[in-house]
Amino acid sequence: MRFAIPHPIPYQGSKRQLAPAILSFIPRGKYKRLIEPFAGSAAVTLAVASQGLCERYLISELLPPLADLWRELVARPESLTNRYRALWNSQQPNPQARFNEIRAEFNADHDPAKLLYLLARCVKNAVRFNPAGQFNQSPDNRRLGVKPDTAEQEIWGAHRLLAGRCAVLCGDFRQTLQHATEDDLVYLDPPYEGTSNGRDRRYIRGVQRDELVQTLHDLNRRGVQFLLSYDGTFGAKPYGKPLPTFLRAHRVHLDAGRSTQATLAGKNLKTIESLYVSSGLCEGRRVPAALHWKEPARGALLFE
Ligand SMILES: C[S@@+](CC[C@H](N)C(=O)[O-])C[C@H]1O[C@@H](n2cnc3c(N)ncnc32)[C@H](O)[C@@H]1O
Repeated sequence: MRFAIPHPIPYQGSKRQLAPAILSFIPRGKYKRLIEPFAGSAAVTLAVASQGLCERYLISELLPPLADLWRELVARPESLTNRYRALWNSQQPNPQARFNEIRAEFNADHDPAKLLYLLARCVKNAVRFNPAGQFNQSPDNRRLGVKPDTAEQEIWGAHRLLAGRCAVLCGDFRQTLQHATEDDLVYLDPPYEGTSNGRDRRYIRGVQRDELVQTLHDLNRRGVQFLLSYDGTFGAKPYGKPLPTFLRAHRVHLDAGRSTQATLAGKNLKTIESLYVSSGLCEGRRVPAALHWKEPARGALLFE
């Protein structure tokens, strides 16, 4: 399995590194469609599409300009690339002042190309909104953001994988999952319980544990299989409680390696993330309690 996967949207919390481990739980050709209702940068959808594991894709996201950015990527890559290039080139001679101007423009017009520029340039590639719903993340002044030629390659790479095969919705995950059937596989990556408090509740409002549990219970009842990234530990610090056993999902600890933040702080802390695998995906298979995924190419593929 090769993993040269496009990653057009720089996004904090992207599952790009863990995607190979997550994909190892997906049997080839069994599920017609992958649904990713907490899309963000949709790293798992792009990885699944790059391996041709499903035929069709449905991604959805609560944040409207991010859903619009996905629509542009899927349907109008040329226009998106040109607009990104123009924004990037307009940064000189004063990139910091220009970032602030583009951020103010984005807060007025919600142009997805401007969101792409802001994400590429801002601190930790992290979307942050103030209580009034205005994007308020600061620029990272050590860099100018992804160069236009690289962005063009990533955008077209994602477009080629998804054009004509991917629908994009904007809304709450529960609405999106009403569309799921037994032919679909669902990958969920909600904001972690411990990390979403205090943000703008209109967009990144966090997901209540009971609504997530209820949704998973409902998927089980309808025979829809799912993979869920939920909680984890950072060094010795755990966040999130295990999900209830009545959901019959198998918990696998994924070793995400050393955290970038810890490395910068001179510490050697590992991030371990939990992946919950629904019971139907485990049938007749050996599912380990832990998967160490330091180098995707060398990892064991469980289902191939
Ligand atoms: C942890 S991120 C997903 C990251 C993604 N796996 C990736 O690879 O980039 C969670 C995403 O869910 C979105 N979100 C938050 N609450 C939501 C909800 N109730 N319904 C749908 N999306 C939601 C956030 O805007 C954010 O983009």
